This record gives sequence, structure tokens and C-alpha cells, in this order.
Amino acid sequence: MSELSFKPETLDKVQQMIKRYPEGKSKSALIPVLHLAQTELGGWLSVPVMDYVAEVLNLLPIEVYEVATFYSMFNMKPVGKFVLEVCRTGPCMLNGSEKILDHIRTSLNIKDGETSADGLFTLKPAECLGACGYAPMMQLGDFYHENLTTEKVDEILQLCREGQLALN
Ligand code: FES
Repeated sequence: MSELSFKPETLDKVQQMIKRYPEGKSKSALIPVLHLAQTELGGWLSVPVMDYVAEVLNLLPIEVYEVATFYSMFNMKPVGKFVLEVCRTGPCMLNGSEKILDHIRTSLNIKDGETSADGLFTLKPAECLGACGYAPMMQLGDFYHENLTTEKVDEILQLCREGQLALN
């Protein structure tokens, strides 16, 4: 067993997830377990974290890697406390997502995928997050911020810095 480990209550949750599926199909619980691992074991999925998930679910490490690296919601490198996932697909693009992205890049002096010097913010352009009717939008933690303007983005960044914005 590796040194990395879920809290006992998280392991209970994992066992509950595994039980939802037929015996021998623990792979079906992989995505929710990766979410738990990302939240509880450092905010990103390092190789040791993915190997631990493989152990817990009795999978080959490669089975975990191929899923974790496919989905943009999993972080493959360390990220800031606040991950700004700005949608840039059609409807958001037509409603100004590039302006929003540019504003964030300039305000935080970062490029896509980078983290600000203070370690607070990571910018992650995303594909459609299913809130096209409220474009442009971004996801921050478990919440969507919609109908974005540069002024709204400034307010959100400020609330983050002040620790006033809930992530979940
Ligand atoms: Fe942005 Fe769908 S295009 S949420």
C-alpha cells in the first residue's frame, strides 16, 4: 500500500461507490473516485495519486492514467487555489469568451494553463460546460459564473482574494 491514503470516511464513500456496480466492475467508479482523489490528495492527480486510485479500485495504473488524462476537469499538474475554467466553445466564443480570457490573462499575467505568481489562480480554457444560454461563462469550484463581463470577472477575482467566494 502506498503512503498516500484517503481519510477513513472517504474510503467508506469509495466502498459505497464500488457497491453501486456489479462485482468486478469497480472501474465504473473511477471518475467519482478521481474527483475525490483530486479534492483530498493535493488538488491534482500526480502519478502516485493515480497509482493509489488504481490500488483502491483494483485496476491497472494505465487504466487510471488513460481516463484521468482524457478529461479536462482533472488537473495533471499543481494548480492554484482557484481554477478559472472559462468556456470557449461556440456560443461562449460568440458572446465574448475570448475577451474574458484575455482580460484574465492580462490581469493575472498568466497564459492558458498557468498559475498566477501568488499561487491563487490557474486559468484553464474549457469546452462547453452546458450553460450556453448564459454565455460567456466559467466554472469555479462547483459553481458556474454566467453572463460574464470583464467587470464581473474583476469582482469575482477580488472576492476570491478576500476569501469571500464559495467553491463548493
Ligand atoms: Fe459555453 Fe456551452 S458553449 S457553456
